[in-house]
Amino acid sequence: MSTNKLRVGVMFGGRSSEHEVSLMSARSILSSLNPEKYHVTQIGISHEGKWLVGDHVLESMLSGKTEGLTPVTILPAPEQKGLFAMQKHGDKTVIEKISEFDVVFPVLHGSFGEDGTLQGLFELADIAYVGAGVLGSSVGMDKGVFKDVMRANHISVAESRIFLRQDLESNIDEIIDQAELVAKYPLFVKPANMGSSVGISKCLNRSELYEGILDAARYDCRILVEEGINAREIEISVLGNDKPKASIAGEIVPAAEFYSYEAKYHDERSKLLIPAPISEALMNEMRDIAIKAYKAIDCAGMARVDFLLDRETETFYLNELNTIPGFTQISMYPKLWDATGLPYADLLDQLISLALERKQERDKTSREYQAYKIRGKSD
Ligand SMILES: Nc1ncnc2c1ncn2[C@@H]1O[C@H](COP(=O)(O)OP(=O)(O)O)[C@@H](O)[C@H]1O
Ligand SMILES: [Mg+2]
Repeated sequence: MSTNKLRVGVMFGGRSSEHEVSLMSARSILSSLNPEKYHVTQIGISHEGKWLVGDHVLESMLSGKTEGLTPVTILPAPEQKGLFAMQKHGDKTVIEKISEFDVVFPVLHGSFGEDGTLQGLFELADIAYVGAGVLGSSVGMDKGVFKDVMRANHISVAESRIFLRQDLESNIDEIIDQAELVAKYPLFVKPANMGSSVGISKCLNRSELYEGILDAARYDCRILVEEGINAREIEISVLGNDKPKASIAGEIVPAAEFYSYEAKYHDERSKLLIPAPISEALMNEMRDIAIKAYKAIDCAGMARVDFLLDRETETFYLNELNTIPGFTQISMYPKLWDATGLPYADLLDQLISLALERKQERDKTSREYQAYKIRGKSD
């Protein structure tokens, strides 16, 4: 192994219901990272949350045969940077350092990967990583808090309200009454922290709203009830840290009534139109808003910003911001960059550089509070 190659850990799988989507994204990324530049370590995370390394990790995870792989971990200890193998000796677990990285690329969608939890571990371990930090990741993940931050920044979002699963147990009818006040039907019900349309329902009446809320409550303790918009779906890719850039816009034409899990991953009739057939003025306005939203949540690295464009009024609403968007060769995020002049492999290079730049920037932060100087002034 040449020592001047950058050591990149690519993580995929994970505990969220988007595990399989992550494997698809990782397959594309692994086949496009330039082997001249990068020494890649694959780290697969099982559904149960086991981190695994070894030969052909991705293939093993795809086939479900992970017996030959080695369990590993990283430590939240800056002086112990790297990957540690965990070996069982009787009832003791012994850890042994097996490799180091310069940067980690978490290709994990949803909970425990895209929501700030893993990013928190990287911060504690002092490891550079691709994508948004703890704050941007967690605000981007929670559809309720995200919309509140957008409203505070005067960015239009659909009417919505968060309900708590715990409150359903005591008085579901009252919750349904309140949910009906959010807007007229159709209403969308979503788990606040999810992706890939898991647990999302479009509800046309009270009994569907009832079912929708119970279904969403299976996936999260926070449930969002939202005004349904008769909308076209327009998406923009954003890339960068403090001076992010926006790609041209694309349009999703779902094969189903809305862009459900089936329509996203299993129905080949769902289409991506690049560029989106909208006016240049509207596209530019959306690009500006995409960047404004990105900055508002302190995003970094990348995000795909999704809009709902009202078919009747041409008003647009920001729907969501995905900090680790789908990343296969045919996913919207890289395709929009490709159409804007940045091919897939170059996009990966940029994301890795941005991760290192962000780490450098954060390393400038002083951790020492020089209390004596301030005391000196007032003394
Ligand atoms: N307020 C809404 N009005 C109309 N359609 C919506 C609305 N919210 C979501 N949808 C539809 O549901 C899909 C998934 O919802 P979204 O909020 O994007 O969640 P996810 O994170 O699962 O992608 C969207 O792509 C869109 O087709
Ligand atoms: Mg979406």
